[in-house]
Amino acid sequence: MKILVTGCNGQVGFELARTLLPLGEVFALNREQFDLTNLESCRATIQEISPDVIVNAAAYTAVDKAETERETAFLINEKAVAVLAQEAKKLNALLIHYSTDYVFDGTKNAPYNEDDATNPLNVYGESKLAGEQVIQQSGADYLILRTTWVFASRGQNFVKSILRLAAEREELNIVADQIGAPTSARFIAETTAHILRQSQQERGAKTFKSDIYNLTNSGETSWHGFAEKIVELVKLQNTELKNRVINPIPTTAYPTPAKRPLNSRLSTQKLTQHFNLKMPSWETVLELCLAEK
Ligand SMILES: NC(=O)c1ccc[n+]([C@@H]2O[C@H](COP(=O)([O-])OP(=O)(O)OC[C@H]3O[C@@H](n4cnc5c(N)ncnc54)[C@H](OP(=O)(O)O)[C@@H]3O)[C@@H](O)[C@H]2O)c1
Repeated sequence: MKILVTGCNGQVGFELARTLLPLGEVFALNREQFDLTNLESCRATIQEISPDVIVNAAAYTAVDKAETERETAFLINEKAVAVLAQEAKKLNALLIHYSTDYVFDGTKNAPYNEDDATNPLNVYGESKLAGEQVIQQSGADYLILRTTWVFASRGQNFVKSILRLAAEREELNIVADQIGAPTSARFIAETTAHILRQSQQERGAKTFKSDIYNLTNSGETSWHGFAEKIVELVKLQNTELKNRVINPIPTTAYPTPAKRPLNSRLSTQKLTQHFNLKMPSWETVLELCLAEK
């Protein structure tokens, strides 16, 4: 099986490039090798490799910048995704694509199910939703995996920011009224490997159904709760961090260019049932991530 992974220097793409190796011949390409803003070059590369599976981990992920870079966000998150889906369809390849809870407005008082009504609050969310729709309309076999609050021991993410800020400041103010499930990029990649394997078997048996699944670690917290846990775990190893104070603040006290949903929780029931998987808690995978240092 030939597997093309895009965005291999991103949080999820980096982990996929390792985790998918036992499943086949992995072509893990970075932005220079597979630039989603160059649609014709992407088309040509896919045709050259002729993959059985395309895993699209590349995306325009700069949520605040997207407010002023709408065209680029849509070029990467919608138009390029359409090209991947068209080429997957031609090759009869499976397209696995990642999306986000930001397709929702966060007003639901419970975790979101896959078929809840979408209503993105920001340009990034709009562009990711448009990407989902072009895949669904393409006729290709696909899996769209919606995730949230991704972190890893490398790349730019909340864990890295808190580790840096906690080393610099004695007091941190962190938003406490947005809730979600922090999710490890390694866990996303490992789960993707299981899903990919089962889906290829289902495709062989003609029982496969293209679908959207939520994929997050289990449990829930706020950004404030997440920051407290990061500092608590690091404090065990670092005596200098003993006296850090983390103050809870409302979203209104931390204005950002892009509006964010207050409820980012996604129900993973559909995924755990269909693929017979168990989602470990966000605390478990955070501890494993911090132990990598
Ligand atoms: N991060 C989150 O909290 C989060 C939450 C929900 C959903 N998601 C989704 O999960 C997926 C993986 O996200 P992630 O956290 O791994 O993101 P990430 O760390 O920001 O990685 C994105 C990757 O896309 C690459 N990329 C950007 N523009 C590109 C272009 N024009 N051509 C080719 N590659 C390009 C980046 O390349 P460079 O390395 O060269 O910059 C980077 O390697 C994305 O679909 C994202 O929308 C993420």
